[in-house]
Amino acid sequence: MAKVKTKFICQECGYESAKWLGRCMGCQEWNTMEEEVVTKKQDFKRSPTMVSKAKPQPIKTIKSGGYERYDTEIQELNRVLGGGLVKGSLTLISGEPGIGKSTLILQASSKIASKQGKVLYVSGEESEEQIKMRAERLDALAETLYVVSETNIDVVEEYISELEPAFVLIDSVQTLFKSDLSSAPGSVSQVKECVNNLMRIGKSKNIPMFIVAHVTKQGELAGPRVLEHMVDTVLHFEGERTQEFRILRALKNRFGTTSEIGVFEMAQEGLVEVSNPSAIFLDSLTEKAEGSIVVSTVEGTRPLLVEIQALVTPTTAGFPRRTAVGVDLNRLNLIVAVLEKKVGLPLMNQDIYINVVGGLKLEGTSADLGVAMAIYSSMRGIPVPSKNMMALGEISLTGDLRPISHMEKMVKEAEKMGFQTCIVPGKNKINGDEMKNLKIQGVDTLREALNFITY
Ligand SMILES: Nc1ncnc2c1ncn2[C@@H]1O[C@H](COP(=O)(O)OP(=O)(O)O)[C@@H](O)[C@H]1O
Ligand SMILES: [Mg+2]
Ligand SMILES: [Zn+2]
Repeated sequence: MAKVKTKFICQECGYESAKWLGRCMGCQEWNTMEEEVVTKKQDFKRSPTMVSKAKPQPIKTIKSGGYERYDTEIQELNRVLGGGLVKGSLTLISGEPGIGKSTLILQASSKIASKQGKVLYVSGEESEEQIKMRAERLDALAETLYVVSETNIDVVEEYISELEPAFVLIDSVQTLFKSDLSSAPGSVSQVKECVNNLMRIGKSKNIPMFIVAHVTKQGELAGPRVLEHMVDTVLHFEGERTQEFRILRALKNRFGTTSEIGVFEMAQEGLVEVSNPSAIFLDSLTEKAEGSIVVSTVEGTRPLLVEIQALVTPTTAGFPRRTAVGVDLNRLNLIVAVLEKKVGLPLMNQDIYINVVGGLKLEGTSADLGVAMAIYSSMRGIPVPSKNMMALGEISLTGDLRPISHMEKMVKEAEKMGFQTCIVPGKNKINGDEMKNLKIQGVDTLREALNFITY
């Protein structure tokens, strides 16, 4: 194969040079020169991201029939993808090392292989023997699952042409390299070029691909952010490595919403789908605990119950601390201000810590009331019957409770999980007759809601 020409381009100002420079001659910035392949003009005749070969046509005449999708046989994965895997789509799966990316895609590859035919799993991180051992543990030994340990993108392309698989998985993009580029695997230019190649292969052959990408602790793709723009879908796999459950969420999805999450549990036999996540998030609930209360949030279409914990302790020196994990700090400050001004709770000399158990991040305002009640419970030292009582509601600056959306779903979930009382804003119209075992308690103000925290 003819050697491809490369050049170095300043990522700041676009200055070009045949050789690498530590400092750009154009804008005088340091370390901004990146190697790029000089592409022949004809390569740009058609955008590589286009699947269709059609000419421009009036929008009304275009058939909109949705996308052709594979069932991955993993419901939690289907859900996050927007209802299955779209043919010809390119999906990036990011996550910290050790979180379970290889486990997830190996399980998916075997399941897809048993339904769709040949699947190619390319690993640059493990040998074929290591993959086999893992596959045995995961029971992922489909007849038509092909495995190869390879890092040269051109060789990978040959394998794809020979095998003609229905699905390709790359683990990981940071180990791939194009021999035309002199920079090391994992460098910005290599990662970009390799994804470009994979995109061209996948789109031209209509093969869907999963590409694993490691991220750093801070959640940055170790590689350029530009990858996120190139691919169709970016899935992020997250969780605490010390805990068993993992959450898969879409950061970008050209074929569906980004609000659905998939929940898994890491077990000896691999990732197990959690179809009832509330059960896991409430796993550590005790009968009665100070500063602990259950709230609900809706992720995509699915209601989840989660435990909020508050710890209020006297400030020993200087400014009182306000620490929130899983809850917006501005929201916490607002709630604390309302508790002080409208309820008369003396919090100005108290440190306040808030934690959402299970590492979930609560968005929106439906957990306001729960946060306030948890703070009150911890401050006063009065335990909450957290296994029986859930609280929902947005707190307004006047100390009133405002109605929230998706109330119906959340309350039903609470009933399913065996809760007996649910405190909700009185303004939320709820058909309480449907609930057989759950009492819905409408209240109008924060002060009124706090009356439920008594000995
Ligand atoms: N032999 C094993 N038995 C049980 N669990 C294992 C085994 N090997 C790895 N794991 C689990 O799988 C995790 C690694 O998952 P992996 O899919 O390799 O992560 P990633 O590809 O994201 O780096 C480990 O953190 C561990 O929890
Ligand atoms: Mg891995
Ligand atoms: Zn420059």
